[in-house]
Amino acid sequence: MKVIIRNTYEEMSRWAAEYIIGRINAHNASPAGAIRPFVLGLPTGSSPLGVYAEFIKANREGRVSFKNVVTFNMDEYAGLTRDHEQSYWKFMHDNLFDHIDIDPENVNILNGMAEDPEAECRRYEDKITEYGGIDLFLGGSGVDGHIAFNEPFTSLNSRTGVRKLTYDTLLANARFFGGDFSKVPKTALSVGVGTVMDAAEVLLLLSGHNKARALRHLVEEPVSGKWTVSALQLHPAAIIACDEDACDELTVGTYKYFKETE
Ligand code: GLP
Repeated sequence: MKVIIRNTYEEMSRWAAEYIIGRINAHNASPAGAIRPFVLGLPTGSSPLGVYAEFIKANREGRVSFKNVVTFNMDEYAGLTRDHEQSYWKFMHDNLFDHIDIDPENVNILNGMAEDPEAECRRYEDKITEYGGIDLFLGGSGVDGHIAFNEPFTSLNSRTGVRKLTYDTLLANARFFGGDFSKVPKTALSVGVGTVMDAAEVLLLLSGHNKARALRHLVEEPVSGKWTVSALQLHPAAIIACDEDACDELTVGTYKYFKETE
């Protein structure tokens, strides 16, 4: 595991965006790029907004093209239509897809309105497999250390499925529903921890003091189903990009180690 520490959210976002842009460009320039697209896993939430702004800028400047990129989003609320203000479909189009040169057919987002949500999750997982897996999964973490919507005690081998959201997550996400806890959907469709772990590379963004506990469990504590994000300790190519505030609970030794070894 690598931990990249930057002073601010903006610097963390710029680093992560440039890293992914480098990966996409290297793939497109390689023989593999002519055979298959670059498959990119994407999250929602406030954490990736800075990265998405950098993608849009770089795309406008001609420094990266998303024409040969296929995306799979991590999750979607159950029961929200695509055009609902808080659907992740809308979030992704407003904040990224409507502003870059990606082919709309290459965008994959779980259908939260599917009549048979379990079948929808199986279809999604199969589609990822058909593309030959995810090259790079960008992600965030909940305050309770969940990855995608894999709440505490979700199996670390889980595949895409329907998840019940915890009280912690409902409270954290109520801010997007006018502060009204009762309006937050109680379930979601989400890729599994195992789905993320299968990606060739995983890049997680953690910023702000409220992610400090999750970062400590992710980096320093034992792998535990209580902090599903900690499964990444077992990933062969995981990178954590964070800001100074998120490091508040790391020991000085850990902090220095990653600063010095970068
Ligand atoms: C939601 C999403 C997660 C995301 C988390 C953190 O629960 N399902 O994928 O990582 O929120 O959101 P934020 O980045 O806003 O802190």
